[in-house]
Amino acid sequence: MALYSEKVMDHFTHPRNVGVIENADGVGEVGNAKCGDIMKIYLKIDGDIISDVKFETFGCGSAIASSSMATEMIKGKPLSEALQLSNKAVAEALDGLPAHKMHCSVLAEEAIKSAVKDYYDKNGIDYDKSQFPDCASCVHCHES
Ligand code: FES
Repeated sequence: MALYSEKVMDHFTHPRNVGVIENADGVGEVGNAKCGDIMKIYLKIDGDIISDVKFETFGCGSAIASSSMATEMIKGKPLSEALQLSNKAVAEALDGLPAHKMHCSVLAEEAIKSAVKDYYDKNGIDYDKSQFPDCASCVHCHES
């Protein structure tokens, strides 16, 4: 079996939603403690819906493919759904990632959560802090 699925190769070679959103409503940036790679997610939010999403990364091919797939999965969806997105669901949607590359898909999940949190914080929106379990103790996050 090939190391990477066709879907991983497709999203790696033709990543969707790469770039920056000027005046984004929420921005999330996280680093991967395992490899030092960085991921940044930009969200445009209309009401409760993610109307646009873009990403930039200094990540490997698996991180690029994961972010491309993850952004496709949350575009047009309510914030609550975006917060439910797990790196496992992203990896499954890509027809799997090699075990030693699963940590790369965590970048996308964490950056999306961080961007939603940024939106909530900027707009003074109250939220359930337990939805962001990593934020308090996370060594990845650039905010302290
Ligand atoms: Fe760093 Fe994949 S090796 S994100």
